[in-house]
Amino acid sequence: MGKEKSFYICGECGYKSSKWLGKCPSCNTWGSLEEKEEVSTFINTKTSKNTSGIIDKVYNFANIELDENYRYKTSIGEFDRLLGGGLVKGEVILITGNPGIGKSTLLLQTAKEYTAYGDVLYISGEESPAQIKSRGDRLNVNSENLYLINETDIQKIGEYIIIKKPKVVIIDSIQTLYSSNSDSIPGTPTQIKESTLKIVELAKKYDVSFFIVGHITKEGKVAGPKLLEHMVDAVFQFEGEEGLFYRILRSEKNRFGSTNELAIFSMEEDGLKEVKNSSEFFLSEREEKNVGSMVVPVLEGTKVFLLEIQSLVTDSNMGIPKRIVQGYDRNRIQILTAIAEKRMGLNIGMKDLFINIPGGLSIKDPAADLGVLISMVSICRNVAISQKIAAIGELGLRGEIRKAFFIDKRLRELEKLGFKGVYIPEANRKEVEKKSYNLKLIYLKNLDEFIERM
Ligand code: TYD
Ligand code: MG
Repeated sequence: MGKEKSFYICGECGYKSSKWLGKCPSCNTWGSLEEKEEVSTFINTKTSKNTSGIIDKVYNFANIELDENYRYKTSIGEFDRLLGGGLVKGEVILITGNPGIGKSTLLLQTAKEYTAYGDVLYISGEESPAQIKSRGDRLNVNSENLYLINETDIQKIGEYIIIKKPKVVIIDSIQTLYSSNSDSIPGTPTQIKESTLKIVELAKKYDVSFFIVGHITKEGKVAGPKLLEHMVDAVFQFEGEEGLFYRILRSEKNRFGSTNELAIFSMEEDGLKEVKNSSEFFLSEREEKNVGSMVVPVLEGTKVFLLEIQSLVTDSNMGIPKRIVQGYDRNRIQILTAIAEKRMGLNIGMKDLFINIPGGLSIKDPAADLGVLISMVSICRNVAISQKIAAIGELGLRGEIRKAFFIDKRLRELEKLGFKGVYIPEANRKEVEKKSYNLKLIYLKNLDEFIERM
């Protein structure tokens, strides 16, 4: 530690001065300044020796080389897209969802895909290798590079991984793992934390990618410490109604891709199949014209989905009218009904209102507002609307229709699915007119303009 130079510091308030003063200019105390030596706490700045080797550890951005095989890909395009373009080397992914939703099925299918890159190890604490093999036969999974173990001690698993160096490891599930270093029983928060710490360490040190299955509690939370979600690189949640054959996989966190992306799969006799054209999927079973139904292109993550909004009103036979909403924010519906009453003279204040988005998705995109409102108007006035027309736009309380983001993406999706026209915000006109679309574009500034056109 080298002596640099002296300075003076006030013992009362900490004021710092380069020369001695009789009275501190900051707190006005007399004789409080004391001499101190400035000492570098890190290194001797005179010699500036790189004793810790830190200088060699800093990368120049321009010189960083990306590994050619940085991401592992599968033949399931939607799965890769959700991951942000494939599985990253050394990435740890947590997959959660209700029992029976398809976590083990999906992971066994992807396990086979990853064997193209090297060995894949499937660790199951819940099923025997024979049980997994029999599921694998059903899924046409067969590979020389796929290994199964029925081991739950993370110490032993670590030993195997370090020696055999598999590229991808699947742990089904984290709740069954334990560390022989810790006294508590498997499934407890302490054990889950311990095991996950070890997994993350193995992943980063040896470039092994991990998928971890996490069971969820009745409240829909990952069983175990909340910390689990912070420790991993990505969290994917499997959703879907029991009995329905499709499944939604959603990215809740993704260090190597965007969040709130979702991919749709259908559960078939021989495993999960990606649904490539999800809009077609959500929009099936519709007539030419419908009362109370309107299609909206909504953004989920970076992808556009076409969803149908359905409304129904009935006379209320109770004092307080009901507002039953499935798949849309209930408060938002209250606001939209208020706008419809005030700005359009719609009489729904004393009626029961039901709003439904078929397909099990929940819309958070505010640009669906106009579609919801049109579907309500359609049912209240009993006017059928063409199902080849969609609506885009967020509504303000004054009845103004606000600009929508990613308008081009939304219009392209409508075009692709054979829509003929779409209501869009006037505020998007400039942007939209730069391109050409095979759609009739109906620009709206506010609801008054919509009423005129009805
Ligand atoms: P599974 O992957 O075991 O769910 P999880 O691991 O999330 O608990 O999925 C079990 C369900 O999927 C079960 O109800 C049977 C059904 N299934 C199919 O419909 N087709 C298939 O090919 C497979 C393997 C399972
Ligand atoms: Mg399972």
